[in-house]
Amino acid sequence: MAKKKINVGMVGYGFMGRTHSNAFSQVGHFFDLPYQPVLKTICARSADKAKAFADQWGYDSSVTDWRRLVEDKSIDLIDIASPNDTHLDIALAAAAAGKMVMCEKPLGRNAAESRKMVEAVEKAGVPNMVWYNYRRVPAVTLAKQLIDEGRLGKIFHYRAKFLQDWTISKDLPQGGQGLWRLDVGVAGSGVTGDLLAHCIDTALWLNGGIDKVSGMTETFIKERHHNITGKTEKVGIDDASLFLARFDNGSLASFEATRYARGHKALYTFEINGEHASIFWDLHDLHRLQYFDHRDEGRTRGWRSVHITDGDHPYMNKWWVPGLQIGYEHTFIHQVADFLEAVSGGQSAAPTFRDALATDLVTDAVLKSARTGQWENAKG
Ligand SMILES: NC(=O)c1ccc[n+]([C@@H]2O[C@H](COP(=O)([O-])OP(=O)(O)OC[C@H]3O[C@@H](n4cnc5c(N)ncnc54)[C@H](O)[C@@H]3O)[C@@H](O)[C@H]2O)c1
Repeated sequence: MAKKKINVGMVGYGFMGRTHSNAFSQVGHFFDLPYQPVLKTICARSADKAKAFADQWGYDSSVTDWRRLVEDKSIDLIDIASPNDTHLDIALAAAAAGKMVMCEKPLGRNAAESRKMVEAVEKAGVPNMVWYNYRRVPAVTLAKQLIDEGRLGKIFHYRAKFLQDWTISKDLPQGGQGLWRLDVGVAGSGVTGDLLAHCIDTALWLNGGIDKVSGMTETFIKERHHNITGKTEKVGIDDASLFLARFDNGSLASFEATRYARGHKALYTFEINGEHASIFWDLHDLHRLQYFDHRDEGRTRGWRSVHITDGDHPYMNKWWVPGLQIGYEHTFIHQVADFLEAVSGGQSAAPTFRDALATDLVTDAVLKSARTGQWENAKG
């Protein structure tokens, strides 16, 4: 039977525009779904580059103003893969036009923006999802299954960090192409909304709600040349952000994100310690889950490094044969697959805009706590 087509209008052809375009292109080859996404129109500000991207990836057409996507009656789904300051306006307009909306993380530059976006998609009743893709790493999905089955028992500790080192040079400018993450007006915040947001989304999913946080941030380089204004300007983002948290289930947590950890490019790790068992995961070794179970027979008890490639591991029966691993890009393909499955039942896929608002409430609380020096409520 012919599959129903879902015409995609994508905003942005940068890093995420490519991962999403790849996911929409690949998903139908590996997953048996009721819908087939069609790369309809790509939007980016440079007409030449947008056209070249459309030709390379097989989009039917290209435009330079996202409003053209929203007005286009043939487009079913708007996918927002542009910088953070564009998310709000595009999402509100797309929802008002009755389109399905996917949005990159963080949902808004702050929780107030995210709340408006949640209200818009819920009022319009349109399926929505935010691209916190690490949930769909098979090893991370397996961690969720093990926790939900009670294998860890009562959870005592959650520990996460996301380390990079690309902004250490004081000569690095802020703002503009490729450097919008350093411009607080565009990004909203620094590593808190960028890297910590990933750690928080995963944590809320695996370990439940966060009650209170106590945060600390630092901006190591106080002034940088601004590529758009041409002047040396104050840096408004946080370069490093750490916080302590108390979860609703009583567990204690520590989180750390920085772009000043020399030698680390994208070291995202988390460890969870429970009464019976512990779990450790590392993005650099994403196809493995480290698992320790105290109930194992004593003489051979120890940390197991489980290679997540078997057919009974999450998503893996869609891929190659046992023993052969998959990578980063597959997490986006899994996310599209789950979204299309949900849409066939008239639903959104997690994390929804509302789920992502919960993350933004935590990041807002971390930034507030760093300013006030007090513990802050992380639920708004
Ligand atoms: N899920 C993840 O792991 C992950 C990873 C990286 C980035 N992100 C998020 O994805 C979004 C994009 O980040 P990126 O790394 O792809 O950025 P990028 O700089 O690589 O690409 C941004 C793209 O948006 C386009 N753009 C900018 N303003 C626009 C406008 N007004 N209209 C249309 N197009 C516009 C640019 O031309 C560019 O193509 C951000 O929200 C970021 O936080 C998420």
